[in-house]
Amino acid sequence: MIDRWYYSLRASVARFARLALRAALVLPLLVAAPLSARQASAGSAGDFVNTLMPLPTTLANKPGSLAINNSFTYSLNANGGAFVSQGAIRLIDRLRMRTGVPISKTPATAGTSATLTIDVLTPTHETVPQLGDDESYTLDVDPQHISLRAKTWIGALHGMQTLSQLVQPSGDHFVFPSVHIEDAPRFPWRGLMLDPGRHFLPVPVIYRTLDGMAAVKLNVLHWHLTEDQGFRIESRVYPKLQELGSGGQYYTQQQVRDVIAYAAARGIRVVPEFDMPGHSTSWMVGYPELGSAPGPYYVIAETFGIHDAAMNPIRESTYRFLDGFLGEMAQLFPDEYIHIGGDESNGKEWRSNPAIVAFMKAHNMTDTKELQAYFNQRVQKILAKHHKQMVGWDEILSPNLPRQAVIQNWHGIEFLINAAKQGHRTILSHPYYLDHMYSAADMFLADPLPANSGLTPEQARLILGGEACMWGEDVIPQTIDSRIWPRAAAVAERFWSPASDRDVNDMYRRLGVESLRLDAEGVPLLSGPERGLRQLAGTEQDQALSLFASTLQPVDFSVRMRQQHPSAATVFNRLVDAVRPDPPLKHTFQLLVDGALQGNTADMDKLDALFHSWMNAAPALDQLEAGSPLLQEASVHIATWPKLGQMGIDAISALRSGKAPPAGWQDAQNAVLKQAVDPHELVDFAILGPLEKLVNAAVTTKGQ
Ligand code: ACM
Repeated sequence: MIDRWYYSLRASVARFARLALRAALVLPLLVAAPLSARQASAGSAGDFVNTLMPLPTTLANKPGSLAINNSFTYSLNANGGAFVSQGAIRLIDRLRMRTGVPISKTPATAGTSATLTIDVLTPTHETVPQLGDDESYTLDVDPQHISLRAKTWIGALHGMQTLSQLVQPSGDHFVFPSVHIEDAPRFPWRGLMLDPGRHFLPVPVIYRTLDGMAAVKLNVLHWHLTEDQGFRIESRVYPKLQELGSGGQYYTQQQVRDVIAYAAARGIRVVPEFDMPGHSTSWMVGYPELGSAPGPYYVIAETFGIHDAAMNPIRESTYRFLDGFLGEMAQLFPDEYIHIGGDESNGKEWRSNPAIVAFMKAHNMTDTKELQAYFNQRVQKILAKHHKQMVGWDEILSPNLPRQAVIQNWHGIEFLINAAKQGHRTILSHPYYLDHMYSAADMFLADPLPANSGLTPEQARLILGGEACMWGEDVIPQTIDSRIWPRAAAVAERFWSPASDRDVNDMYRRLGVESLRLDAEGVPLLSGPERGLRQLAGTEQDQALSLFASTLQPVDFSVRMRQQHPSAATVFNRLVDAVRPDPPLKHTFQLLVDGALQGNTADMDKLDALFHSWMNAAPALDQLEAGSPLLQEASVHIATWPKLGQMGIDAISALRSGKAPPAGWQDAQNAVLKQAVDPHELVDFAILGPLEKLVNAAVTTKGQ
């Protein structure tokens, strides 16, 4: 079976629109049309520029707009309760910060006609959202009035996010363009997994990530709370779990309650994961009797990868322990679902334990997978006793697993399809592993329910959605935001918007805008990497380093694992930690090269200027490197960069003149390109594919 440690490096393809907002302004006019990807307009001030992310189900642009000024007011009906009134205050806060208009946060008194009216049809009784809640809303913006209507408080929250994304400049002020939007999600389970097990993520990181999730309508925080490297949650029933298993870094139960409340107020469910029977070393530091090897000998794992520790599946004491622990967690977490992991249990401890081997023999089990299936069934009964449904990674799928169990896919999509065919509800994660540095385009185009799935309509309904996964081996609080965002926003759109939404260029245009919005609202996906570069440069602003970094991205998870062998002891302050996955230049560069190869002289000019800027900055970067020990770790890439610039200048010159470069030039360029893909320095140039295309075109040019 494949495992995530040995995935091969994938060439990513797409690039982010660096000048997304500017590009938006020159895209063609939208006439009222459901889900037209290019819902942007040129022309006069006040025309609609669609920067919504995710795209709504249906959207019609109407003439005119509503000016945002001091007289803006809002009102709420009572059905929304505190969640909607708090959401409205956050909305007004965002509008104030976007526009500079000091809009009052106090709602207008009932009976007065407010600019924005928010109506929730059904009174709120829930204290937390639940799978399957109605999330739909309707939004009407007219020049005099905005009406947001939703069946539930959750729909109202989503509608407010959409409304805040509609704000756009118009001449000397800001407006809401007139629109009619009817919107509802395609899938009910739209998640993001966080892994504080490998590297602890303090509560503020969780809060800001929930803010980002709410902005793009993700609705499940999957919280991977236990790992070989740390047990991250307080248990009062078994306190040695966190006392001995966490190195002091864990969430108290009060912090957990606060996170659940914060998430609920944003329409987000919290599903905890307690990984078992494997990935469980940290449990056994305090409770060695849980393990399958003769103990006590367990210490918290420092290295990453697959460890041998596995809970003992044949002792009744194991199930009594899990009953106590899961019973406690079932009280703490109100969501109906609990994730039991189930991944990467290698069976070594089981095969080395004579009592376990004898048990397997006595029960006619031919391999440890069957024993794990037995363990899962026992755990499922414990969860059912505590009124919880089970979720597990796709290793838990076996013929006698109760149909209620939800399967989370992380192997190929065929595992998802299989699970649905066997009658299980299932969620897709395989294409959305953020640590594999897939581009936003790759993840956006990967569909949880592809047209060729071969599933019956009834089976297709079992596909609940998906989750982006942010595994924790290579991320720390200072770097995690740029690893999650903005790519998770592209995934969020895949989960929310209609299947027909597949225009990659338009997605990147809107993603660039969403990046700015998220960063402004406290998710430092842009400012984090900038801070990292400042620390490497040792100056407040270093343009040469920023320019260099704009051409780079981190290597894939498995390459980093092979090259660096990161562990819990590694310091994550290198160039690789300060450059962004799928950087904006990547997509822009690809578009420019495509344009240049089609003879577009403006694109050739832009490329030429870009290549010259690299050449011009190279001496300053060399100087910086000389005084920066950490930058010296990237010396091969630093030395290669101006050669790539010269390569580009030569290629453009050949294309322009129609005169192919001299003999030997291509061989020399190929040698540079080979040097440029060296993975030892943990960064990849994000522009090599299109640059190579340019070189090949230059060699065969016959003039334009
Ligand atoms: C996993 O990536 N081991 C679920």
